[in-house]
Amino acid sequence: MPHPLISPLVSSILKTLNSLVLKEFGIAWGLKTDLENLGSTLSTIQAVLQDAETKRGKGEALKNWLRKLNDAAYDADNLVDEFMNEALRRRMDSERGINPQVSAFFSLRNRLIFRLKMGHKIKDMRDRLDAIAGEKNKFHLREGLVETGEVCGMQRGQTDSMVNESEIYGRTDEKEMIIEMLLNNSSDRDDDVSVYAMCGMGGLGKTTLAQLVYNDGRVKSYFELRIWVCVSVDFDVERLTRAILESIEGRGCSISNLDPLLRRLQEKLFGKRFLLVLDDVWNEYHEKWDRLKNALKCGAKGCTVIVTTRIQQVALIMATLPIHHMAHLSEDDSWSLFKRRAFGNERTEENLQLDLIGKEIVKKCKGLPLAIKALGSLMQFKRSESEWLSVKENETGICQMMEVVFYLP
Ligand SMILES: Nc1ncnc2c1ncn2[C@@H]1O[C@H](COP(=O)(O)OP(=O)(O)OP(=O)(O)O)[C@@H](O)[C@H]1O
Ligand SMILES: [Mg+2]
Repeated sequence: MPHPLISPLVSSILKTLNSLVLKEFGIAWGLKTDLENLGSTLSTIQAVLQDAETKRGKGEALKNWLRKLNDAAYDADNLVDEFMNEALRRRMDSERGINPQVSAFFSLRNRLIFRLKMGHKIKDMRDRLDAIAGEKNKFHLREGLVETGEVCGMQRGQTDSMVNESEIYGRTDEKEMIIEMLLNNSSDRDDDVSVYAMCGMGGLGKTTLAQLVYNDGRVKSYFELRIWVCVSVDFDVERLTRAILESIEGRGCSISNLDPLLRRLQEKLFGKRFLLVLDDVWNEYHEKWDRLKNALKCGAKGCTVIVTTRIQQVALIMATLPIHHMAHLSEDDSWSLFKRRAFGNERTEENLQLDLIGKEIVKKCKGLPLAIKALGSLMQFKRSESEWLSVKENETGICQMMEVVFYLP
């Protein structure tokens, strides 16, 4: 009988380690590599765990090894939880409008202390797990295929440039401001490309705003070429170059090496005014971006790259123009979006009481479109006041739902 606890526990730790929330805060706090190393040690253990659990009845030594592993896995789980709770707490703080700049000194100090403390704890945990992993060879365990909970690149939804504008609320001023900037942006240097970054938490509407801009008539006629590429977690320069080329040429590209791909890209962009949207960027390595950016420096004046990202550091690395920090939806726009989801297009009769409760529910979403949509859809099939009241009063449920939204890959 396989042991009922360790494999699922290790899987769940790996899943949390791979979650985008943790990746985002790992990067922000400079603990990305430590967390990745912890994950890789756990993966090597996970690879033999199934076999070990099947053979647990065969000898005291293996039983002891599994016991040690069990204890370490519980501690690792608590550690990763601690990290995740801190990440979510800070996100909630920023949601509640607690401005880190108000006490910049203290927040920087706290961050450094947190980073140091967690850095030590993660390293100790890794040493402990490394020692356990080192012992596994004496049991001649078979490696098996395991679910590591990888949620990066692959499972993160691909985005495209399409948007149904009739379903979008607000953003008019932001959209106008960005379009104005695009149409009047011509860098003095011919060999340069301007990069405009939109930054904000998951579900705030970065991709949507980029879509609104991309599809605007003035933008369509100003740029000779418009290209939309969904980047996601893996900033693979070859894949991205191919994706840009395919978007320009409208067909698949069979070139297999990076150098000829980059050359072909330059040929295609040469002398043209283009708008390139790089949606959902997570890459914080300068070199990868520089490689792609160099190939883009051959267009006409006014070429612009729009980048959307959750991570401020990514925006800082890429942007050449002032970073656009996404605003939250206003109360009115939030309410319109919620109403649309909860009541559909044609609302036959107004129910004042439901409206009052609904407005209270919407306030808890703090202008986050993804959360408003999720809650609006939840209310779609509820029509009695008591059901609405119970959702409104279920603080924990709403917080959990917000957490689920944050966790979304
Ligand atoms: N202004 C808006 N009005 C109505 N719906 C919106 C608005 N902005 C975003 N949405 C909806 O909210 C959801 C999340 O938006 P979007 O994908 O643009 O967020 P994001 O900031 O790009 O998130 P992520 O960081 O996960 O990529 C989408 O379903 C989108 O249609
Ligand atoms: Mg997005």
